[in-house]
Amino acid sequence: MCGIVGYIGKKEIKNILLNGLKELEYRGYDSAGIAIIQNENMQVFKAVGKLENLERKTKNFKTEGFGIGIGHTRWATHGKPTELNAHPHLGKFSYVVHNGIIENYKELKESLEKKGYQFVSQTDTETIIHLFEENYKKSNDAFKAFKETIAKLKGAFAILLLTKAEPNTIFFAKNGSPLILGKNDENEIFFASSDAPLIGHAKEIVYLEDGEYGYANEKEIRIFRNSKAIEIKFSPLTDDKEFAQKGGYRFFMEKEIYEQSRVVSETIMGRVTQDSIDFDEFDESFFENIENIKICACGTSYHAGLASAYLFERLAKIPCSVEIASEFRYKEPLLNKNTLFIVISQSGETADTLEALKIAKKAGLRTLAVCNVDNSSIVRLADTTVLTRAGIEKGVASTKAFATQMMVLWMLVLYLANLRKNIDKNVFEKEIDAILHTPKILVVKNHLHEKIKRLSKRYLHGHGFFYIGRDLFFPLALEGALKLKEISYLHAEGYPAGEMKHGPIALADPELFTIALMPKNILYEKIKSNVEELSARDSTILAISPYEFELADDFIKTADYNHPMLEFFEMMLIVQLLALEIAVRLGNDVDMPRNLAKSVTVE
Ligand code: F6R
Repeated sequence: MCGIVGYIGKKEIKNILLNGLKELEYRGYDSAGIAIIQNENMQVFKAVGKLENLERKTKNFKTEGFGIGIGHTRWATHGKPTELNAHPHLGKFSYVVHNGIIENYKELKESLEKKGYQFVSQTDTETIIHLFEENYKKSNDAFKAFKETIAKLKGAFAILLLTKAEPNTIFFAKNGSPLILGKNDENEIFFASSDAPLIGHAKEIVYLEDGEYGYANEKEIRIFRNSKAIEIKFSPLTDDKEFAQKGGYRFFMEKEIYEQSRVVSETIMGRVTQDSIDFDEFDESFFENIENIKICACGTSYHAGLASAYLFERLAKIPCSVEIASEFRYKEPLLNKNTLFIVISQSGETADTLEALKIAKKAGLRTLAVCNVDNSSIVRLADTTVLTRAGIEKGVASTKAFATQMMVLWMLVLYLANLRKNIDKNVFEKEIDAILHTPKILVVKNHLHEKIKRLSKRYLHGHGFFYIGRDLFFPLALEGALKLKEISYLHAEGYPAGEMKHGPIALADPELFTIALMPKNILYEKIKSNVEELSARDSTILAISPYEFELADDFIKTADYNHPMLEFFEMMLIVQLLALEIAVRLGNDVDMPRNLAKSVTVE
């Protein structure tokens, strides 16, 4: 999500850091900063907005000779994109940059505040630097203090820390967020959260593993695991930048599909415990007297809204309706003040959704945005926002944004169900178990991807696709069809399986491909008969199900989960990969499909 870089050496440090950050800017850019120690002097610069603002700010600053530095480009998760919230965060004599989320930052912050530490930002990261300085006070040993600090942190992190106490050393740690260390023959050392900034600088790199930490200076690099120094195995670095930015994947869309497990854990982090769901963004009073919910969004975000409506009604027992924003805005809607108005948007800039939000605000409704981009127009306008924490999505076809929207909405459903005492304790606990299990389901298994690659060659022609599903899986069918048409340019429709017989079944023949979502936990027998009807009319069937289905021409077996949302997320992965592989075989530009734009700021 955010990007971090670090440097130890004799070259112009500012340029190395800024150029490194430029390579990472695609990951997040609401603010950026650098900190440098040279000749025991510390310098820090921060700027809100794109990196060019930081470049402008540091125009007259230069370094000569040996020094160390760290830099960060931020994508807000805790706190608004302001200069105070931008990294590096500072203590009295140390600086830190951090990617990830410190889950237990509130407890740590409280105990540090009791000891007299003053926090100037709203971030979770600031706790790290005060905790480090507190630990240093006790031992006067910077490495010991760093070790004790990271031992106290829960959550995901990649950390680089500088301190005047050891002015030639960078301390580092990794757990759950990526961190790479590189070096070259000129005795320079580099750090970065992905390999793109290292290309052209480092010759050899090592990808740190979770739980590893250490320090580096001109004399030595030491990496530790469980308090023991490990042997460092460097490997040569590629010199292909584009390849590195995509993390070795062929397309950003593919990379983003693979990232879903990690970003969904970030969506959950700090919001879900074994027996509760909590959001920093609002308290219970925000929902006082709410009688029903209306959701407005476009495209993929609309599909997330549609799927969540089943959950709002079933689990939280709140009536919920969903509308396409471009339809809503001109229908002269009748609105009621006791309606909670939810808008969903990856970009936060979609013109139709923004307009729908304005209408709701004008009518005096309480408004909540589910959004991926902090400080976007929608976030600024809504009464409150839950950020989805997907990080920048580059592929035009939305994937990880959808997964994180679904997760936020599911958590919101359970939060409200609990608040309104509409959910049995056992059911609530089962839902939480399923939420916590979801990141595992989203890990793409090699054999599954390979199978879909092979299978895709049979689905390149024909006169159309019907993705069918029921209940929650109907919006997923819509989403699967949208993914396919966007990037393959093949005609695809999502349809409620039970509705096929009311017309569309007339299209059935061997050239009509039916992609059937047949989960075990929702209406399996019903959808089975719907698919049988299509099979009887000779449609070519690709069944996606945990149960073998003998009438299928192709079959993707899913796991035998006991929760519909787990099946939902697994099938979501499958339809995303299927669209990707069909488009790849057709030779299309998956990341920039024709006629589409990532952010639709016009009507
Ligand atoms: C589909 C897709 C679009 C967007 C839609 C809304 O892959 O990306 O359908 O979902 O344009 O965009 P946001 O979520 O930014 O409001």
